[in-house]
Amino acid sequence: MRIIQLTDLHIGQEGEDTYGVDVRQNFLQILEKAKAQQPDLLVISGDLCFDDGDAEVYAWIKAQLDHAQIPYEIMSGNHDDPTLMAQVFDREELLRGKELYFQREYEGRTVLFLDTTTYQMSKAQLDWLQEALDQIKGTALVFMHHPPLPSGVPFMDSKHHLRNMDAVQEVFFAHPHPVQVFTGHYHVEKVVQQRNLTVYITPSCFFQIGQRSKDFEVDHYRIALRTIDWNNGIMMNAVHYLDEAHSAV
Ligand SMILES: [Fe+2]
Repeated sequence: MRIIQLTDLHIGQEGEDTYGVDVRQNFLQILEKAKAQQPDLLVISGDLCFDDGDAEVYAWIKAQLDHAQIPYEIMSGNHDDPTLMAQVFDREELLRGKELYFQREYEGRTVLFLDTTTYQMSKAQLDWLQEALDQIKGTALVFMHHPPLPSGVPFMDSKHHLRNMDAVQEVFFAHPHPVQVFTGHYHVEKVVQQRNLTVYITPSCFFQIGQRSKDFEVDHYRIALRTIDWNNGIMMNAVHYLDEAHSAV
């Protein structure tokens, strides 16, 4: 089974200046690369929109995904509107209040998709996560937008971190098996591990952020996807960058 994760597209309205980066072209090119690798599932882990949730942007992304004919899941990030997203992508049955969190079964494996749009998870979502993990009798696979561990990226850890990280960690740490979490949001490539929790942060399809700076700083404009493969009980994953920057900077 092969999953491909894309994250942090940050697509603006038609003609909108997105820091000089052609984010629509970036998405089309990364989607083409993803399709060539024939995934069983494509996951877009939040921040589909440049700034705020936008119906036209969601509709444009949906049209590209439908055209690509790859099964996909979409998640809401802090630059999204989960309700609007669920409406445009025709997934309103997945909404729980104003949050869009859900689970799916793929080849007998449960995959959890969380919602941290508000920089935190509600008590209801934490309770749901606890119950969902209780049903998983082995390694848990989770996608969420925000990393649930401090990640050694000063600008993001200090200003844009998950607010109720302790409560989220408590639920993950209580799982008696490994928990593998795939995130975006930080615009870096990084792996962070504590106890049974391993967090894989996937680079953005917009730009990458300097990993050592306390202030906002662009590191580079190469965009990437992550492949996650399971075969015969072995999980392996890797980040693949496009060969060159496709931005107008
Ligand atoms: Fe984000």
